[in-house]
Amino acid sequence: MQFQFSALAFVALFLFPLGHCATRSFSSYNPDPTDVAKNAATANTTQLTWNVRGRAIDRFVVIWLENTDYNKAAGHPDMKWLAKRGITLDNYWALTHPSQPNYVASVGGDYFALDHDEYVTVPKNVSTIADLLDSKGISWGEYLEDMPYSGYQGFEYLNQKTQANDYVRKHNPLISYESVFLNETRLSLIKNFSQFERDLKDHKLPQYFHITPNMTNDGHDSSIKTAAHWARSWLTPLLKNKHFMKNTLVLLTFDENEIYSTQNQVFTILLGGAVPDHLKGTKDHTFYDHYSLLSSVEANWDLDNLGRNDVNANVFSTIANKTNITNRFVNTTYMVNNHTYNGYFLNSSISLPAPNITAINRNGKPVLQKIKDTWKDVYSSQLSHSYFTPTTTTVSARLTNLATVSASVSS
Ligand SMILES: *[C@@H]1O[C@H](CO)[C@@H](O)[C@H](O)[C@H]1NC(C)=O
Ligand SMILES: *[C@@H]1O[C@H](CO)[C@@H](O)[C@H](O)[C@H]1NC(C)=O
Ligand SMILES: *[C@@H]1O[C@H](CO)[C@@H](O)[C@H](O)[C@H]1NC(C)=O
Ligand SMILES: *[C@@H]1O[C@H](CO)[C@@H](O)[C@H](O)[C@H]1NC(C)=O
Ligand SMILES: *[C@@H]1O[C@H](CO)[C@@H](O)[C@H](O)[C@H]1NC(C)=O
Ligand SMILES: *[C@@H]1O[C@H](CO)[C@@H](O)[C@H](O)[C@H]1NC(C)=O
Ligand SMILES: *[C@@H]1O[C@H](CO)[C@@H](O)[C@H](O)[C@H]1NC(C)=O
Ligand SMILES: *[C@@H]1O[C@H](CO)[C@@H](O)[C@H](O)[C@H]1NC(C)=O
Ligand SMILES: *[C@@H]1O[C@H](CO)[C@@H](O)[C@H](O)[C@H]1NC(C)=O
Ligand SMILES: *[C@@H]1O[C@H](CO)[C@@H](O)[C@H](O)[C@H]1NC(C)=O
Ligand SMILES: *[C@@H]1O[C@H](CO)[C@@H](O)[C@H](O)[C@H]1NC(C)=O
Repeated sequence: MQFQFSALAFVALFLFPLGHCATRSFSSYNPDPTDVAKNAATANTTQLTWNVRGRAIDRFVVIWLENTDYNKAAGHPDMKWLAKRGITLDNYWALTHPSQPNYVASVGGDYFALDHDEYVTVPKNVSTIADLLDSKGISWGEYLEDMPYSGYQGFEYLNQKTQANDYVRKHNPLISYESVFLNETRLSLIKNFSQFERDLKDHKLPQYFHITPNMTNDGHDSSIKTAAHWARSWLTPLLKNKHFMKNTLVLLTFDENEIYSTQNQVFTILLGGAVPDHLKGTKDHTFYDHYSLLSSVEANWDLDNLGRNDVNANVFSTIANKTNITNRFVNTTYMVNNHTYNGYFLNSSISLPAPNITAINRNGKPVLQKIKDTWKDVYSSQLSHSYFTPTTTTVSARLTNLATVSASVSS
C-alpha cells in the first residue's frame, strides 16, 4: 500500500512537477506572410563593426546546433574532421532541457526556471551580454538562417514553399529579452544569413556573434548527419578566410543532448585563428558550460559582469591562459542538468531572481553599474545553479532528486 502510494506520488510529481496552472504564460506573436512582407519593407539592418582589442582574441563566433548526445556527435566523420582542426572540449555541459532555456541562459546568465519552448519575454530590468559589450563599444550581432527580416519577433517562420520549419524564435538567444527587443538599434543587429555573407564580404563582421542555422541544418528536424555536414560545409571556406580567421575563436556546440535521462554533456569544438597549431586535434578536459560563453567574453575584453551565473563560470583555456585565470575543478558525478528549478517562469508566485550586485567575476570586475542601480534595493536571493559556491539547498535538492529517482526505479 505504502509503495503504491509513493509510486503514484512520484508519477504525479514527475508529470506535473510544480503544478501547471501557476506557470507564467505570455501571448504569442506569429504574423502572416502579408504582415511579414509589410514589416520587412520598413525593417532596418545595421552593419556595426569596431575593433576593440581583446586580451586573447579579437572576435568570438558562437555556433549552436541541436539536440545531439555527445558520443553521437563525436563519432560523426564530419565532426571528426572539424575536431582535427581545433580543440575538443570533452567536459562541456548544457544547462537544462529543452532548447529555449539554454539559449536564453547563454546571454543572460540564468534561464529563470524556464522549462519549455513557448513564447516568453524576460522583463526589461534584466541585462544581457549586449549591455556588457556595449559598455566598451564592442560590436555584436546574431545571424539566424531564414529569419525573414532583421529584428523579426515572430514565434517562427516557415519555408514558404514547403511549410517546413525554418526560423524559430526559441533558438534565438537575445530576442526574448525586453532589454533587447525594445531597442530598435539592437533589433537591427539581429539578422538573416544573407547579411552574414554581406558583412563578411564588406569586412564588417561584428566582434561577437551568434549563429543559428535553420531547423534542418541545425539537426533539430533532421539528424547529426545533416547538422555535421552543414557545419563542415559552412566552416570550410571560413577556416581558409584570412580576414575571418584573424585572432578569431569559433565555438561550435549543441544546445542540449537528446536523451533526457543521461548527463547533459554536449560535444563542443574550439576552432579559428586563435587556436595554436600545436593544440589542433587535442582535447581539453576542463569543465565548461553555456555560462562559459559569458565569462569568456568578460575575461577577454575585461568587462564587468551580470551578477548571475556568468560570475563563477570557467573561462575557455584559450582566453583563461592569456588572462591568468585559473579554472576550477567541478565534480560532475551527480550532475545531470536535466530539469529546472522552482523559480520565475515555472511558478508565478516567485519573482525574478535578483543578481548578486556585489559579485566579482573571474577577471576581477564588478557588476555593471546600470545593473547595480536597477537592483540595489532588492535582496540578492540566490545564484541558481552555481556549481562553485553552491548553497546547501541547491546541492541537497539536486542530490535528493537523484536519490528519489533511483529509489523509485529500483523498487
Ligand atoms: C511556488 O513557490 C512557492 C515558494 O517556493 C511554493 O510554496 C509553492 O508551492 C510553489 N507553487 C507551485 C505551484 O509549485
Ligand atoms: C528604421 O529607421 C528609420 C530611420 O531612423 C526609423 O524612422 C524607423 O522607425 C526604423 N524602423 C524600425 C522598424 O525600427
Ligand atoms: C534550410 O537552409 C537550406 C540552405 O542552407 C535550404 O536549402 C533549405 O531550404 C532551408 N530550409 C529547410 C526547411 O530545409
Ligand atoms: C540601444 O542599443 C544600442 C546598441 O546596442 C545601445 O548602444 C544603446 O545604449 C541602447 N539604448 C538603450 C536605451 O539601452
Ligand atoms: C535569408 O538568407 C537566406 C540565405 O541563407 C536567403 O536565401 C534568403 O533569401 C534571405 N531572406 C531574406 C528575407 O533576406
Ligand atoms: C533526469 O535524469 C535522471 C537520472 O538519469 C532521470 O532518472 C530522470 O528521469 C531525468 N529527469 C527528467 C525530467 O528527464
Ligand atoms: C593553457 O595552459 C595549459 C597549462 O599550461 C596548457 O596545458 C593548455 O594547452 C593551454 N591551452 C591553451 C588553449 O593555450
Ligand atoms: C598574466 O601574467 C603575466 C606574468 O605574470 C603578466 O606578464 C601578464 O601581464 C598577465 N596578464 C594579464 C592579462 O593580467
Ligand atoms: C566526486 O564526487 C564523488 C561523489 O561524492 C566522489 O566519490 C569522487 O571521489 C569525487 N571525485 C573527485 C575527483 O573529487
Ligand atoms: C555575492 O558575491 C559576493 C562577492 O563575491 C559573495 O561573497 C557572496 O557570497 C555572493 N552572494 C551570493 C548569495 O552568492
Ligand atoms: C523587474 O521587473 C519585474 C517585471 O516587470 C518586476 O516585477 C520587478 O519588480 C522588477 N525588479 C526590479 C528590481 O526592478
